[in-house]
Amino acid sequence: MIKKLFLLICLSPALQTAAQNHLILNADQGRDTINPRIYGHFAEHLGRCVYGGFYVGENAAIPNRAGIREDVIQALKKLKVSNLRWPGGCFADTYHWKDGIGPKDKRPTMKNVWWGGTTEDNSFGTHDFLNLCEAIGAEPYLAGNVGSGTVQELSDWVKYTNHESGSPMTDLRKANGRVKPWKAKIWGVGNEVWGCGGNMRPEYYANIYRQYATFMSDGVNSEQLFRVASGANSSDYNWTEVLMRDIPHNMLEGVALHHYSVIDWNNKGSATAFTEAQYFKTMKEALRMEELVTRHVTIMDKYDPGKKIALVVDEWGGWYDVEPGTNPAFLYQQNTMRDAMIAGVTLNTFHRHCDRVRVANLAQTINVLQAVILTEGEKMVLTPTYHVMEMYNVHQGALMLPVDVRTDNYRFDNQQLPAVSASASRDKNGKIHISLVNIDPNKPQEIRITIHGAQAKEVSGRILESTKLQDFNTFEQPEKIKPKSFSNFNVQQNELKVILPAHSVVVLEF
Ligand code: AHR
Repeated sequence: MIKKLFLLICLSPALQTAAQNHLILNADQGRDTINPRIYGHFAEHLGRCVYGGFYVGENAAIPNRAGIREDVIQALKKLKVSNLRWPGGCFADTYHWKDGIGPKDKRPTMKNVWWGGTTEDNSFGTHDFLNLCEAIGAEPYLAGNVGSGTVQELSDWVKYTNHESGSPMTDLRKANGRVKPWKAKIWGVGNEVWGCGGNMRPEYYANIYRQYATFMSDGVNSEQLFRVASGANSSDYNWTEVLMRDIPHNMLEGVALHHYSVIDWNNKGSATAFTEAQYFKTMKEALRMEELVTRHVTIMDKYDPGKKIALVVDEWGGWYDVEPGTNPAFLYQQNTMRDAMIAGVTLNTFHRHCDRVRVANLAQTINVLQAVILTEGEKMVLTPTYHVMEMYNVHQGALMLPVDVRTDNYRFDNQQLPAVSASASRDKNGKIHISLVNIDPNKPQEIRITIHGAQAKEVSGRILESTKLQDFNTFEQPEKIKPKSFSNFNVQQNELKVILPAHSVVVLEF
């Protein structure tokens, strides 16, 4: 009788769905470090990202440091931006870096063909960008022009930025006021060359890559560069296969991957006035990153079992319709708690795959797509995405601790997604951080955390939440959504019980 009752309890679907969330933290099984480069951002000459976002010019009334907004510098320093990718995106394969050096009033203008046909006056160029990186403490990631540039041009750019002396390029840099080279390590060799970067086939690009990569050094500095091959569009696995097969591994440090969380490229929907059906689709696309990374990594493992070559997710984030009344080519969108969900689950995915995903760049930093900062004249506001990345930056450079997560599902319209996403790490001071996201917009989730190999002492937490999923910060109400301290948990020996409110992001520390 007792046995029958036990079986009945185990098999009853109604009982199985109740409080299933359980996380096992293997605090004694850490092996790989979460590369800080996963916390990279992206700044393209697109809309108001560079001009008006980062850069207002030295004569602006807005407080600035050599033309870069002081408020932006402070916000990005606090965020701990590990690396910044520039000047594109699609713009990169139209950009000729020599147009952006020397006296600003002598620089030629160009038409920004990809992003609204605006006039680019080249007032923000190589020096401005590399000095900006120094000001915010970020490593530069320069995206080279392969689509419409030349091997010589990219080779010269490396010499100009990185070499001490001994070439016309280093003399030119010094004449332009910079004696010491910046020593930029991360270099993209073209961007989306399957599309805006030249509509190439992977076999053709692999050959082109070999040629460009060969001349990106003088033979002395080559081993110091981290060269990134233009990578696949979401699930184009053949692209990764061909690059890994056809490019010699001694000239390849990273292979890129781009994936945006888009509902439908022809009907992206509003950034703020979205339905639950649209939210569900966005989260499905965001969670798809797990599958994409896993499959691209499987292909890379076949050719590079030692994991020497990194997977570089150098464009990711949510993409919606632009804000009403703004230029459609400027990709200016608001940022809600939905974006906080995307950021939280995506970073958790990158952490769990940190042995291969070693660089990533959210698209884009300011006023474009899933921005961390929005500006309007002298005003600036931090978005929910900013706050998630700031809460999560405790994971940078920490030892990733494997987690086994059993989660309830978030159900909508006969479909389901895992409700809880998680990752964990131990930092250099021995502190353990667990980041948890409940994407369910309707229900809190209780989760039991069992800890192996560490003790849950002095537990504290921070949370990002808001009443509605559609909530966002505005210039009038900039602090509607911001991290708060969190204490909705209890500790019993080595178990934690945590209640995650609907659509919330929590980071625990002990
Ligand atoms: O981030 C906006 C654009 O999206 C980039 O320029 C391009 O690389 C991608 O298609």
